[in-house]
Amino acid sequence: MEINNIIVTGRMYQELEKLAELDPKREYLFLPEAQVDPKHFDWADAYVAFKPTASFHFGSLKWVHALGAGVDSFLYKRAWNKDVMLTRTVGSFGRKIGEYSLSYILADLQRHDELQQHQIERQWLPSQRKLLQELNVVIFGTGTIGQEVARMLGAFGVTVYGISRSGASNGYFHKVFPMSEVHSCLGQADWVINTLPLTAETDRYFGMNLFAGMNGAGFINVGRGASVDDAALLQAIDQGQVRRAVLDVFREEPLPAQSPLWTHSGVVVTPHISAVTGLDEAVNGYLAVLEEIDQGQQRVSYAVDVSRGY
Ligand code: GLV
Repeated sequence: MEINNIIVTGRMYQELEKLAELDPKREYLFLPEAQVDPKHFDWADAYVAFKPTASFHFGSLKWVHALGAGVDSFLYKRAWNKDVMLTRTVGSFGRKIGEYSLSYILADLQRHDELQQHQIERQWLPSQRKLLQELNVVIFGTGTIGQEVARMLGAFGVTVYGISRSGASNGYFHKVFPMSEVHSCLGQADWVINTLPLTAETDRYFGMNLFAGMNGAGFINVGRGASVDDAALLQAIDQGQVRRAVLDVFREEPLPAQSPLWTHSGVVVTPHISAVTGLDEAVNGYLAVLEEIDQGQQRVSYAVDVSRGY
């Protein structure tokens, strides 16, 4: 595949201008999303961005490279041209999401909120803490992100279960269950972490039925907001099936000011920061794929199976 002309857009477009120096033999166009015009797609062989612009069409494109890990903005509820290769950025998202999750799990286990309140009240009230090694964590999604989160939690002695489509075993997890057997481990979970991609199968997947199977687990969502039925989640928190929720992703982002998630005492809201693409990982991820394309590699790393949707 020959790649000569490339459109680069999205929030990093200016910082990514260094690609033109790193890769001088090709023509680059670096533009803010609003300035990408439909005619640019008739010029470009490749499109590099976090998501499609409103003007996006396949034109002459042969390759689309996503600067994020999730590709639902390109594939979900959109028609994809099977002749166009889609690749994504992998980078250190698993590690970032692992540290994000661990920070909330540990703060909860060590009861930071309670200690802070006691300090304010000048109360000396010692109490016991559980150890991480006493916890069961269920991770939905056993891909590169889920595996790294499992590896990190496992290093602290946490028993980590995985849930995937197939239930195929995987060395990072104590045991992996297929989605059809999710209730085998959900009831014992202290924490449930969603890392699943958004597809037709996972849209509103975390609903009443799933939350009803939890027994006071904490719920961390670092996958996609649309995988959760928010009303069902709030109800599950109020009824105690979910003890608290730590949400980094939302059906609509930024989370609208009127959303009840902002103010619910059982919900922590963070602004989609658990795994933000860094400039170096964006540049390196893109150049690594480009090199494989130049070498004529048949199976390019980080190529997305567009028929699967992730
Ligand atoms: C962030 O959500 C990403 O897809 O990289």
